[in-house]
Amino acid sequence: MSTPSRRARIYSGTPRNLARLAGVLRSGGLVAVPTETVYGLAANALDAGACRKIFRVKRRPSTDPLIVHIRSLAELPRLAHVNANALKLAKAFWPGPLTLVLPKTGVVPSVVSAGRSSVAVRMPAHPLFRRLLRLAGLPLAAPSANPFGYVSPTSADHVRAGLGARISHILDGGSCRVGLESTIVDLRDPEHPRLLRPGAITRAELERVLGRPVARPGPAGRANAAQLAPGLLKRHYSPNTPIVLHERLGRADVAAGKPGEAWVFLAKPPGARGGEIFWLDARGDLRGVARRLFALLRRLDHAGFTTLHFECPASDEGLAQAINDRLRRAAARG
Ligand code: TXA
Ligand code: MG
Repeated sequence: MSTPSRRARIYSGTPRNLARLAGVLRSGGLVAVPTETVYGLAANALDAGACRKIFRVKRRPSTDPLIVHIRSLAELPRLAHVNANALKLAKAFWPGPLTLVLPKTGVVPSVVSAGRSSVAVRMPAHPLFRRLLRLAGLPLAAPSANPFGYVSPTSADHVRAGLGARISHILDGGSCRVGLESTIVDLRDPEHPRLLRPGAITRAELERVLGRPVARPGPAGRANAAQLAPGLLKRHYSPNTPIVLHERLGRADVAAGKPGEAWVFLAKPPGARGGEIFWLDARGDLRGVARRLFALLRRLDHAGFTTLHFECPASDEGLAQAINDRLRRAAARG
């Protein structure tokens, strides 16, 4: 993007700033907000005009529905037709990184649900976002605060780098604790829950609470998966630098590489040296890997490397599944 003509202002979470930003939201404006997963671009979910601005600013196709954020469980029945299994999950994991897809009520504008009869709802855990939700007194629609198709932002600076010329208000809540977008579960049919997007809340955790199997997400980009959760295109979260994924990385791979390539390990490799070797978490702890993945993808994308080599978690269960999902999407071309 060229030099932004107008820079968005970054606000700290003082009571005065929060009151001002709540006023912006109440009058139909947009505010970028911190959540525990990634930063979101928020608008009054009950105001179709305000939500249309989100699509324009992100250059997001109108076929890709938004997630609605609420502050308390009591707000859910106004937006969605609730069932017992949805309540079980909400009680177990809210506030937190879990989004429920349910049949929508008439108050949700069709621009939010992209014309569908369902709505995605989540109760975020970030304390500043929760205070803003309370002050605004509204449910807030918010997709990730990045231009459509790029890596999701996990800091206020990431938001400003991507959207700073197109929005005015960014609330700074520090670096996102989880670092990957929420787990999305389709509960329209309570008897057949289905995972639409893996995240920090794992399929095993959902199954434990529900006492029944939760269907896996379809392979990325397959027509049926795209119909279920239309934003989940195969190529997403994509940096501009080509990415190559590896089941394991070792010294021999690095030695055989070409100049200008970067090597990203899950854990710090023994004796690591040189400006082209990186790691996501000193000990390879997957929560640390998830937390730092998007920030490192962005940094390396702007560092002038020709290729980014990434080591993937070996298992494809739990948090590893969510990390692998994002790495595969980042590496997908075309
Ligand atoms: O962690 C998160 O979920 C973040 C923060 C800001 O809350 N939000 C986020 O939003 O990742 P976004 O727009 O980048 O991804 C939302 C995805 C859509 O692309 C779509 O796949 C799915 O949620 N979705 C939304 N409404 C849906 C619906 N009614 N049915 C199926 N999928 C839906
Ligand atoms: Mg997104």
